[in-house]
Amino acid sequence: MTSVENRARLVLGNWKMHGNLAENAALLTELRAADAASHCEIGICVPFPYLAQAASALTGSSVSWGAQDVSAHEKGAYTGEVSGAMLKEFGCRWALAGHSERRVLHGETDEAVAAKAQAALAAGLTPVVCVGESLADREAGNTLAVIERQLKPVLALGADAVSRMVLAYEPVWAIGTGRTASPEQAQEVHGAIRAALRALGAAQVQVLYGGSVKAANASSLFAMTDIDGALVGGASLVADEFLRIAAI
Ligand code: PGA
Repeated sequence: MTSVENRARLVLGNWKMHGNLAENAALLTELRAADAASHCEIGICVPFPYLAQAASALTGSSVSWGAQDVSAHEKGAYTGEVSGAMLKEFGCRWALAGHSERRVLHGETDEAVAAKAQAALAAGLTPVVCVGESLADREAGNTLAVIERQLKPVLALGADAVSRMVLAYEPVWAIGTGRTASPEQAQEVHGAIRAALRALGAAQVQVLYGGSVKAANASSLFAMTDIDGALVGGASLVADEFLRIAAI
């Protein structure tokens, strides 16, 4: 299924810090079994230790996998970090960059997020760059200014780089709260992101929406012109729910 400008729909799961080998095995088996039934491209971003498990369960299926973070550095004395080349060795397609939990809990700056996206591209991964305003930003009327500020160093990487990325708009107040942005609220921001992409010459970049997406609210979000899919947290841990979103 495609949107107005023929951008393919993409539904990505973000497992966050959930899972264990046994639970993952069951979830991966269900995803693999059902992948032919989904109407769009689907992928999952799993914790680093489970990349090998995802690779072995999903190789040969149409479900892709990736990581939830990537180092901005190629190699070196960066204890605890994981490079894009390492992710590539485990067959990753995706690397999230700048999820709000990384920005808020780990102090990732807009510039650091852009550097991560650039490192992911250099390793042959597709970075999924996340942006989104806090509730205070929204209530102060600063939503679009915040998104613009977060995107600035990413867009500064240029049209060639940006056209190889995926963006995700995830209002912080909608993440894990059960409070989704209305389709109109989401479209307003997606429309602004699209305008910035178009000005750069990268209008075809997929822009996902994230924040309490479920099967029950996904179709009204997907009906919006500039929403090209979803980045799904909690609901991606339940195969049936996740696959229902992908089947819309
Ligand atoms: P949620 O998380 O779907 O659980 O709100 C989305 C995300 O943080 O990517």
